[in-house]
Amino acid sequence: MAEATARNIAPAQGKLGVLCVGLGAVASTFIAGVELARRGKAKPFGSLTQLATIRLGPRTASRTPLIKDFVPLAKLEDLVFGAWDPIPDNAYEACLKCGVFDKHEHVEPIKGFLQRLEPMPAVFDQHYVKRLEGINVKKGRTKRELAEALRKDIRDFKTKHGCDRMVVVWCASTEIFIQPGPAHQTLEAFEKAMDENDVTIAPSMLYGYAAIMENVPFANGAPNLTVDIPVLEKLARERGVAIGGKDFKTGQTMIKTVLSPMFKARMLGVAGWYSTNILGNRDGEVLDDPESFKTKEESKLGVLEYILQPALYPDLYANLYHKVRINYYPPRGDNKEGWDNIDIFGWCGYPMQIKVDFLCRDSILAAPLVLDLALFFDLAQRAKMPGVQEWLSFYFKSPQVAPGLYPEHDLFIQHTKLKNTLRWMMGEEQITHLGTEYYEYGKE
Ligand SMILES: NC(=O)c1ccc[n+]([C@@H]2O[C@H](COP(=O)([O-])OP(=O)(O)OC[C@H]3O[C@@H](n4cnc5c(N)ncnc54)[C@H](O)[C@@H]3O)[C@@H](O)[C@H]2O)c1
Repeated sequence: MAEATARNIAPAQGKLGVLCVGLGAVASTFIAGVELARRGKAKPFGSLTQLATIRLGPRTASRTPLIKDFVPLAKLEDLVFGAWDPIPDNAYEACLKCGVFDKHEHVEPIKGFLQRLEPMPAVFDQHYVKRLEGINVKKGRTKRELAEALRKDIRDFKTKHGCDRMVVVWCASTEIFIQPGPAHQTLEAFEKAMDENDVTIAPSMLYGYAAIMENVPFANGAPNLTVDIPVLEKLARERGVAIGGKDFKTGQTMIKTVLSPMFKARMLGVAGWYSTNILGNRDGEVLDDPESFKTKEESKLGVLEYILQPALYPDLYANLYHKVRINYYPPRGDNKEGWDNIDIFGWCGYPMQIKVDFLCRDSILAAPLVLDLALFFDLAQRAKMPGVQEWLSFYFKSPQVAPGLYPEHDLFIQHTKLKNTLRWMMGEEQITHLGTEYYEYGKE
């Protein structure tokens, strides 16, 4: 096999500023968790960048470094956090309100650190998130002015905190459903639409635009279009900025993208898949609005179609009935219950059922994803890999892909792709799992 060459990756020197759009349950749990890990008070379970190893070379070589020792990632100690939110709570108040962490064990010991993190005024408009009211909000005559104000925030934060590099992660509420339209095609149309306060330019797009214009990578953890529009994809490529999304793949969809490849691998049919969730946090309240739910529903529904390929396997999957529900149920808070009933069929069409009841914690699952995305997007930026980061599809329910491609949803294909991309970056051989050299007939 030809020797691979490593990419020229700039070192991860200095501080990395991580700006979260939104300082709600996910963002505050992420930030508090990193601080707890830095102080040795908790472990960053769920994070590949902190815990996973990567196999290099043949199995006999026994080379399995930690990912963080293999690729040059920013260290937890070098992260500096900031946020925007229309709700003025600081990170301490946000942690207490969302009730994810135990107050005495995990919040009080880092109270001072959390209190110092006050959210910057947000670009927020209730038209796009009906169930929220914001008071910590920027004022501007046009959307262009608001985008410029966000750009200034990014520059000011970088200077104030002496950051070497920055990254922005959307951890804010799910906006109403918007389809790509004329204003999202070219930079000229997009800028004109910002000047004219066009309703198809959502606040999240302004954050995406601002980050790209400041040459700052942007990852989108919610299902809103945001940077998944032609104009921002092109702008990111042209300016050399890493972007990606959408929607953190955490609970029910993670399970779906593990089980459905199993059915397909064994050629088992699926007649129906009913998924429901009960959730009582602010995200659940926002998603109780039909227009925000529509955005989430699209993101959750897509995965089975792509994985099961009904056009290729009509007998097995063409009649699959797929339903997704989210019900706001306050008593559960952030502890979501995701329940699935799957009707499958096997040999000669005989039916079987699988029930999954995932009693999860939404933000506990999402927080390590925010960390990995911040570190990997910063890595991609230093490795000069602009545009959509498809190799990070692993983290998203509805992965953004290059134009003309369909997304890869299977969690283990995504995982292989992520690790092979890291190998490729560092000039290591790809692992194909072929292993013919170990067979008898391969030895002559
Ligand atoms: N497992 C998970 O928790 C999970 C999985 C996938 C996606 N998500 C998505 O992540 C996002 C955050 O989830 P959460 O549980 O932290 O919700 P949350 O409601 O606790 O926090 C969202 C925060 O965003 C703020 N916000 C809304 N619009 C904003 C704007 N324009 N600018 C700045 N801030 C804004 C809100 O005021 C709120 O504080 C949601 O969109 C959710 O759908 C979460």
